[in-house]
Order: sequence, then C-alpha cells, then structure tokens
Amino acid sequence: MFHKTIIKIALIFSGISIVIQFSACGAKDAEKTASSNGAFDLLWTNVFADSCGTCHGVESNSNTAGGPDLRTKATFHSNLVNKKPSDYADWTIFKSTKVACAAISFVNPAASTQSLLVAIFDSTVSEDLAPCQVKSHLTPDQNITISADNLTSLKSWIDAGAAL
Ligand code: HEC
Repeated sequence: MFHKTIIKIALIFSGISIVIQFSACGAKDAEKTASSNGAFDLLWTNVFADSCGTCHGVESNSNTAGGPDLRTKATFHSNLVNKKPSDYADWTIFKSTKVACAAISFVNPAASTQSLLVAIFDSTVSEDLAPCQVKSHLTPDQNITISADNLTSLKSWIDAGAAL
C-alpha cells in the first residue's frame, strides 16, 4: 500500500514536470513570433546579401541607377517596404518602358501577391500584375537562384507585415 502511494506520487510529479516543460516551449515560440522572429535576417543572409547589391545601388549601372539601394540589410528593407518605383523619380526605366509598374509596391506588407519583389521570382504572381511586365530575375542577366522554401518564407514574411 505504502509502496503504491509512492509510485502514485512519483507519477503525478513527472506528469507535472512534463506539463511545465511543454508550456515553457510554447512560451518561447510565442516570444519568437512577437519579436518579428528573424525571418528577414534569414532571407537577407540566404538570398539577398550576395545577389542584389552588385547591381542595385551601383550608380554606374545605368539600368538600376536612381532606384533602390539593395547593398545593405537596412537599405534593402527601407528602400523596398512600402515603396514603389514611382518613389524613385530618377530610375528612368519606370518612366519610359515600365510606366505600368510604377504604382505597384516592391513590398506591400500583407500582400505578397501585390509585391514586385515576389513577382521577379514567381511567374504566377507576375502574370497577375499585368499590364506591368516584371523582369524575371531567375533568367539572364540576373540568374538568381531562390529555393522553393525561401520563396515560401519570403511570401510569409511579407504577408505577416514585412518586419525588419
Ligand atoms: C545583373 C544585375 C541585377 C541583379 C544581380 C539584380 N537585379 Fe534587380 N533589376 C535589375 C535591372 C536592370 C532592373 C530593371 C530592369 C527591368 O525592369 O527591365 C531590376 C529590377 C528589379 C526590381 C523591379 C521589378 C522590375 O521588373 O523591374 C526588383 C524588385 C528587383 N530588381 C529586385 C532585385 C533583387 C531583390 C535582387 C537580388 C536577389 C536583384 N534585383 C538582383 C538588375 C539586377
């Protein structure tokens, strides 16, 4: 009898500690999401850091001059989120051949399907933006590689508000 009671008490305690461990995990995940979770950090490191600043921000490149500067994490974010080509009066290509794209956001927080940054990697999204003709960055001259997972992360990051 005494023995059985000890076993019962031991079982109750291990049950409690499992519950405590589970709720601790839950709390950590919630914290992560609330503080914008590092999603942009990962995208910057995995996709953008090495592949955009060679053209965007380089004033001697006549096709990108006057447009957003994508050479650092901070300018990438501040020059694209809630910004449109029409915010860059000196990016000449949008005043001539690409007028139809001028009013579409590069990154429209909460609408990845209305974002030029997604359209350059995803033809289904770019087709929906017609008559704007987005330059696919998966083909020459850009030849950017983005994995399916990173494209999904990019869309979720934007749809969650595109936090820094
Ligand atoms: C080889 C040079 C080059 C590289 C590398 C490059 N871009 Fe571009 N990008 C351009 C040019 C040129 C344009 C304007 C071309 C056009 O629209 O015909 C452009 C346009 C864009 C646009 C506007 C959409 C459009 O159709 O014009 C976005 C958004 C963009 N680039 C983002 C990026 C991002 C993000 C990266 C890195 C992943 C990147 N670019 C890498 C040259 C480059």
